[in-house]
Formats: sequence, C-alpha cells, structure tokens
Amino acid sequence: MNYKSKAKELVSQMTLEEKASLCSGKDFWNLKGIERLGLKPVMVTDGPHGLRKQAASSDHLGLNDSVPATCFPAASATACSFDRDLLKEMGKAMGEECIAEEVATILGPGANIKRSPLCGRNFEYFSEDPYLTGEMAAALIEGIQSKNVGTSLKHFAVNNQEASRMTVDSVVDERAFREIYLTGFEIAVKKAKPWTVMCSYNKINGTYASDNSYLLTDILRKEWGFDGLVVSDWGAVNDRVEGVKAGMDLEMPATGTDNDEAVVAAVKNGLLKEELLDQNAIRVTELILRTQDNKPVPYRPEDHDELARKVAENSAVLLKNENDILPLTKKQKIAVIGTMAKDPRYQGSGSSKIHPTSLDNAFEALKAAGADIQYAPGYPSDSRQVDQGLIDEACRLAASSDVAVIFSGLPDEYESEGFDRTSLDIPDSHNQLIHAVVKANKNTIVVLQCGSPINMPWKDEVKGILLMYLAGQAGGRATANLLLGEVNPSGKLPESYPYTLEDNPSAMYFPGNPKSVQYRESIFVGYRYYDTAKKEVVYPFGYGLSYTTFEYSNMKLEELGPMSWKVSIDVKNTGSMAGAEIVQLYIHCKKSAILRAEKELKGFQKLFLEPGEQKTAEFILEHRSFAYYNPKASDWCVEGGKYEIMAAASSADIRLSQELMIEGDGKEQLLVEDYKELPQYRTLSKPFRVDTSQFEKLLGHNIPTYPNGRPYTASSPMEDIKDTFIGKIMVKQLQKGMQDLAGQDGFDPSMLRMMQAMLMEAPIRSLKMFSQGAFNNNKVEGVVAMANRKFFKGIRYMLKK
Ligand code: BGC
Repeated sequence: MNYKSKAKELVSQMTLEEKASLCSGKDFWNLKGIERLGLKPVMVTDGPHGLRKQAASSDHLGLNDSVPATCFPAASATACSFDRDLLKEMGKAMGEECIAEEVATILGPGANIKRSPLCGRNFEYFSEDPYLTGEMAAALIEGIQSKNVGTSLKHFAVNNQEASRMTVDSVVDERAFREIYLTGFEIAVKKAKPWTVMCSYNKINGTYASDNSYLLTDILRKEWGFDGLVVSDWGAVNDRVEGVKAGMDLEMPATGTDNDEAVVAAVKNGLLKEELLDQNAIRVTELILRTQDNKPVPYRPEDHDELARKVAENSAVLLKNENDILPLTKKQKIAVIGTMAKDPRYQGSGSSKIHPTSLDNAFEALKAAGADIQYAPGYPSDSRQVDQGLIDEACRLAASSDVAVIFSGLPDEYESEGFDRTSLDIPDSHNQLIHAVVKANKNTIVVLQCGSPINMPWKDEVKGILLMYLAGQAGGRATANLLLGEVNPSGKLPESYPYTLEDNPSAMYFPGNPKSVQYRESIFVGYRYYDTAKKEVVYPFGYGLSYTTFEYSNMKLEELGPMSWKVSIDVKNTGSMAGAEIVQLYIHCKKSAILRAEKELKGFQKLFLEPGEQKTAEFILEHRSFAYYNPKASDWCVEGGKYEIMAAASSADIRLSQELMIEGDGKEQLLVEDYKELPQYRTLSKPFRVDTSQFEKLLGHNIPTYPNGRPYTASSPMEDIKDTFIGKIMVKQLQKGMQDLAGQDGFDPSMLRMMQAMLMEAPIRSLKMFSQGAFNNNKVEGVVAMANRKFFKGIRYMLKK
C-alpha cells in the first residue's frame, strides 16, 4: 500500500478537530486512532536496547514494571563492536519482539554525542564520534524496521547532559552543531530512514527543539530529505502552535485537550495555516497505517538470549593483558571476587530499563563452564562503605588461588537518566579492594561493568582489564567465554578515557548553569581535542586488544571518479587464535587555513580472521569525507591541499598511511579573517579554556543572557519557583507523590535520585504530563500567576475549567 497517499486521503476526510486531536497522544504510550475512518490506535514504547512495554501502570521514567523482553547490551557497549551487521541482527530481534507485543514503534536509538564522560545517560548513546554514532544508529534502525516496526531516532538535538535537560539552552556554534552534534543524526536519517525522529527537551541557541523550524524543517526535512514523523520527547512540547509550524508532528504523551484546542483556535483565527496541521496529521496517519496489518511472528526468547550473549561478546573491550594473563585456563584456581560477579550491573537506569526475560551472571557461567572457582564478595552489595572484613577475606582467597578476577564498576545509582555524574570515580570500596587483592596475588584481573569511562587508579598494578560496559541479560556467559578464551575479545573503545576529568575539553563548561550550557570547545570533542592538543589519555578512541595479533599491509588508493576514492588495506591474523580486527580509517588535513581536528574517523570495518587468514578492508572516501561545514557559505566545503589517509588499529596506532592531493573549493577564505581572531582555538590549552570574546566570535553573536527570577513562565522549572508561596505548595505535593511511589512494593531505590532531580528541573507546564491531563493550561497559568505574585489572577485561572 502507498501509505502516504492513503494517509492523505484519510486526512482529507477528517474534521479540523479530528486532525488536531490525532496529533497528540491518547495516553502515555498510545496514539489515538479515529474509529470512523478505520484508524486503530497504535502503541509506541521505549527502547533503545530492548522493549519496555508497560502493560499496567505507565510512566516514562522506568518506575513501573514492563513485560519481559530481551535486554540487549546498552549502546555504550554495542558501539564497541563497530559491527553494523551485528547491530542489524539485534535490531531484527527487537523488531520481532515489538510485533509480538503489538508495538508499532520503538523509541530509540539515541544518537547524542558523548560530549562529556559525565553525562548520566551516556550508556544509552554510542560515541564521542559522529560517524561511528551515525553508522551504529543506522544499522540498528535498518534491523528493526526490516520487521516493519518503526524507530524513533532521539534526542534531536544537542542534548548531551541530563542536568536541566528539560529547559537548558545549548549554546553551540554552527560548525560544531553540524559537524559534531548533527552528523550522526544525518547519517542515520539518510541511510536508514527512521520512521520517526524524537525532538529533545532542551533549547538550541535559544529555541526549544520542539518549536525549532530550523532544526525540524529546514535541516531535517529540506536538507536531509526526512519524510517521517517528528514526535516530542515525553513532555517536550513548549508551545504547541509553534510546534505545528515548526514541523513537530506528534505531541507525546497525552496532556489533556488544551493544546489540541489551541491548535484548532489558531487555525480558525488565521494564525496557523491548516495545511501545516494537515502535514502533521498525514504523518501521524501514515505511521498508524504502516503497522496496522502486522501479524505476530513466533520467535524463541532463548534464541534472542543467545543473540544478546553474542552481541555482548563482540562488544567487550580488552584494555590490558600483561604477559598474556588472559585467557584463563580451566586448570587454574580462580578467585572470583566482587558481588557484581553474582549480581551484575547489566543496564542503565531510567526510561530504558528493561525487564529481562532471563538474567545470567559470570559466577554461574564460569562454574557451568567447568572453571575451578571460589568466591568472595569483596565489598558490600548495598553500601559503598569500605568493609575491611570483606577485603581481608577476598585477599585470603586471592592468596590461595592462581589468579584473582575482580568484578567492579559503577553501581546503579551512579549513572542514570535524570542526572549527571560528578566524578569519574567508582566506589572507594572497589578501589581499596583492588589495591589490596593485587598485593595478595599479582595475577589480578579486573572485569568492569559500567556505562561510561571511569578512573582506574589501580590500572598499573593489575595484569588484565576486561571492559564489559553494560552487557545486557546474557553478559555473564559472555564474560565467562571471554575470560576462558572461548571467544576472542574484539571490541574497541568508542570514546577516549582521559587521565582526569579536567583533561576533558568540556570540563570547564559542563553542564553549565541551569539556564544555559556553552559548548565552548566547539568541534574539539573527544579525540578531536586530545589528538590536536597533544594531550595524552589513558586509553585512546578506537583502542582495544585481542588474544591474537594482526598485521596491516598493502595500502592502496584508487581514484574512482571526481571526489571519489577507494582505499584498501590487507589485514592478516598473525597469531594462533581466530579473532576480529576493527580497521579504522582516519583523515588528516596537512595544512589548514581554518580550524581542523588532527584526525577524523571516516570509515571502519570489522574483519573476522582465522589464524593465518588475510582479508582486505575496503573504504570509499568522497566529498563529504573531506568536508567541513562552512557557516559563511551555509554548506559543506572542502579545503584543497594534501591530506593524509591513515589505516589504523586505534586513533593512536596508525599502521599505514598515504598522501592524497585534494582539489578544494577555496571557500575557507570566507573564514580566514574571522579565524585570525581565534588564537585560543589554535593553541588549545590544557586544561581547555576559551575566553568569552573568542567564543562569541566563533558563535557570531553575543552569548545570550537569561533573566533570573520574576516574571516566571510556564517553562520556568519548579526549582525557580520553589521558594514562592505556590511553589512551596506544589513542591510539597509533588514530593509527597514521590514518597508514596517510593514506598510501594518493589520500588527500585536507584530511581529515587532521578525522580528528585526531575521533579525540580521539570518546567511548570509538565504538571500537565505528570497529572496526565488532570492539570490543564488554566491550572498551569494559575500557578505561574501566583508565583508572579498575581494572586487574584492566579485564583481566577485556577477556578476556570
Ligand atoms: C526520555 C526518552 C524516552 C521518553 C519515554 C523521556 O524522558 O528522554 O528517551 O523515550 O521519556 O519514556
């Protein structure tokens, strides 16, 4: 069926009221249908690494339970696989589960850039690099959508922190916006055509993403050719009429009828063109039509569990392997230490939290594999306090074993949606345990379970480090197989591991203040900064070891046509074990008149090789591979000159390189004068900082200022009004609601901090979402008026319907 034309035909039969109503949710997860036109309501649910379908009580914070579904490794892990086929396979399995549960669209993947290692939600995102991000997101989307289930590429855009995410203004220059923060979305949109894109909560250079026609129409639709639907993040709608104008098609979740009525009134008053609403309604109708005839296909949960194991195995990164301490043998006496061996951290907290179909652990998996293991907890599972008794017990066990394997990482409450981390540290109870065990047995290995980079003060003391990230429900078996050499680690880091937090280029500016965050480091994000500033890191982007070795040879560059080259490199497995190598292709502009990062990733390929086997990695380089975004030309431009093309095993391990002369378009001249005034962006200080004047020069305007205090608006966060009379009442009520929830059976305490943060950061208008429409616009305006000391006006609003 041609859904678009069918949708157009149906929309032509809708009344104005029906169209407006169709463009907002029915409840938390369902869209509205229109019975008389045969349009059945369809369901959308989270994502992104499995299905979180809530059958009973609903929320968007991961508080209430959901139906069992396969919990695959989180994006921070799957990105390490650099394996498009694997992500596609995982997507297909997720698609099957969606169909079985009658879910039309899954809310993911997330394609936000890891600007800072502290972002609380980094575990849901792929990388600090936009190309890797886009490729991984596209592969997952292709897999899911191949089963005729939609995806929602999120959170569009420049949402790189949790702090104040619902209202903060992300102040970013156009080059960084395009080259770093949008490119991943662009690749995924162009390659995989997601059915939907989810706009983020925050503002971008002063305009809410949900009201932003530059973002949602000019860039997304006109430039990239997106013809799907834009849905709001849950509660992200700022001004519904502006949203319709901007191309924000669907408001989620339900917030009552006020916004629909405002849209109808705006059309009637001539303030909004009905054609624009028609466009929205057509896109919503199309989405509904697409899955109406889906029939559940039976699948075996065991098969998906096995796939989850395979994904976890291919995503693990071997960070250290001194004297080939790994793999272990079954003859060795192994001390398994740390409660995470039995009670793993396998996914993050918040809206992506999945109820797994089963859950294994490394301790049981090692035992089942026949390893000779003994166990000591090492640290208390429910407290972060150092317990000397447990450490001593672990040391005794380690001393009487051949090797000690310590399971460590970030506990649940350390990283979550809703708030950011404040340091890179893992609990002191883990660090002290590791320092002590190493003294008892120098053959110590650490297995890490965490969603983002951490400090490893013991890294030089231990002999092996295996990073599992958040490995999903079958991560235990994957860990055992990797430790025992049944599987050869092949993952590489999708992000840099800095020595200290201060080394990160955004450190001085992250997360800004509650009103705004300045992206002063511009394009120098992650390895683009470390490499250019020559700042050493613990582990570079793209790094990862293997139990075997690989040799690169025979690099060839072949011109295919104007601005098109084929690059090929032979890679041979020179060790004695089968393994996989991720070959990375970087470019370096040898002499640039503008700002350029030392190197940029432009291709990668994962090759699976038997011992002695050789294969050829092939890449295509084209115009965009060499391009930078030129704000003065409003276009992607290429600077002419010599480029170095590098085949690498990591961003710091270049194996082969060749030079290429590129003919440019000369448009960098438009920037040269301006860039002369940006010396700090050329020197890139360590730690990184840039004066206000230089950032403003780069931005092309002054950094906006934000009024504090009154007058408050519906978009003011609860935090702002908490000391006003009405604010105190509201906060008290909300806190009471939260306490009631926390008192319920089965409440997950790791959610408490997220709820607290969100409560204070949510704008006043989100009372409509939290109350599912019981609180309407009049009540919101009532609160706003009272907070502005307009008590009578406030009461009049409150008394209105
Ligand atoms: C999150 C989204 C999620 C939505 C629905 C929001 O708070 O930011 O990622 O899809 O809730 O749960």
